Amino acid sequence: MRAADLAKEWGYKRLTLLEFGVAAGAGLLNICRIAAEVTKVTGIEFRVVGFDTGTGMPEPIDYRDLPEAYAAGDFPMDADRLRASLPPNCELILGPITETLPEFLSTVDASAPIGFASVDVDYYSSAKDSLAAFTGDPEKYLPLVPIYLDDIGDITVNPWVGEWLAVNEFNAENPMRKMAPWNMLRSRRICKNAKWIEHIYGLHVHDHALRTPGRQLRARRTADNEFIGVSFETEAA
Ligand SMILES: C[S@@+](CC[C@H](N)C(=O)[O-])C[C@H]1O[C@@H](n2cnc3c(N)ncnc32)[C@H](O)[C@@H]1O
Repeated sequence: MRAADLAKEWGYKRLTLLEFGVAAGAGLLNICRIAAEVTKVTGIEFRVVGFDTGTGMPEPIDYRDLPEAYAAGDFPMDADRLRASLPPNCELILGPITETLPEFLSTVDASAPIGFASVDVDYYSSAKDSLAAFTGDPEKYLPLVPIYLDDIGDITVNPWVGEWLAVNEFNAENPMRKMAPWNMLRSRRICKNAKWIEHIYGLHVHDHALRTPGRQLRARRTADNEFIGVSFETEAA
């Protein structure tokens, strides 16, 4: 809902929503169901994309992947069954994320930028692979993208292992992209003890045109005034 509100504020009509780590599909189906409700009340449409090996967890690389909690083969998936229950606006992309991400990213542009992601791949190494999704050209993203980080709350996670380490490395390696806890979210909620609040981060795309002085987003339309996407222009243009 927050992503749709931001999209409306910034003039977008369609967003891409991602889930890294699908397993049996509970989260992906929930995203699809909630997205359909959000479309009804905001008019924003969604492309939903889930990523998974299709064969469960890969081998952990070392202690940073939390072998005390996860092992190769955990979370198997019945891909055919899951695909049969997905709506037409949802894609399931199977294979190691490092292998499947580049081709997917080449399909994303400002007509449906990435507006939300759930990262639930448990390992440090897999989270690092997933966060590469946020290093593409700036127009592939909302200027601020709500992110759900499932695995920062595991009790053996800390800044040196697991998803938390992957986030810290992402911030260190990307000068114009930063992931930070969503500002003041708890104080804006009625149910202040809800656990999910601490899982919500924002991806700040500081090199986005809308966060760059003197640049503006403009709707592109056909001669019949049909919306076909957005482009960025300087104020003088
Ligand atoms: C905890 S489960 C996901 C649970 C899911 N979000 C849900 O709602 O039930 C973690 C998933 O991440 C996937 N995964 C972990 N590392 C991966 C990688 N490098 N590439 C693709 N999928 C990966 C595993 O196959 C596993 O299904």
